[in-house]
Amino acid sequence: MDIIEKVKNFVEQECGKPESKYGFEPFEFHFVPVVRYAERLCDELGGDREVISIAAWMHDIGSIVYGREDHHITSAKIAVEKLSEFGYPQEKIGFVEKCILNHRGSQKRGRETLEEQIVAEADVLANFDEIAGIFKAAFVYEGLTQGQARESVLQKLTNKFEQLHFEKSKEIIRPKFEAVKILLGK
Ligand SMILES: [Fe+2]
Repeated sequence: MDIIEKVKNFVEQECGKPESKYGFEPFEFHFVPVVRYAERLCDELGGDREVISIAAWMHDIGSIVYGREDHHITSAKIAVEKLSEFGYPQEKIGFVEKCILNHRGSQKRGRETLEEQIVAEADVLANFDEIAGIFKAAFVYEGLTQGQARESVLQKLTNKFEQLHFEKSKEIIRPKFEAVKILLGK
């Protein structure tokens, strides 16, 4: 089994554990689309595909195991431990670690490498594939009304679109963003 497959299986197992903080849903509805967008951006823009795929699979693993707070730090720590256990080269573990540490838009940490930027960007793009989940958060966790939720989801996705860094990402996601504006706009 190759290293990416091993990492994927590890993440799937953690999401499937009864103590997973968000249940199994993030595996299918967040990790899978993030990896897909990350690999697509890598094909278009370059970068080390293995590092990008591994970092994309593991970027939020800390929030599954411990919860959302400081999950960039907890995820990086878990990734370093797990990849060392798998015998992955230390130098490449360092690149994966940086991608995970710097993936959060809210943390304002500088991103130096293309790999870091691609993982962060894929995380933003994946929002356009998890609109049901954003609505779930609006109703279940934020207790919004239908009208508020509709406005809030449109606003969130507009902010996400504006955060995008690469022209290529905007091109990839524009049809979905246009659809969102038609469906959720006034
Ligand atoms: Fe994420």
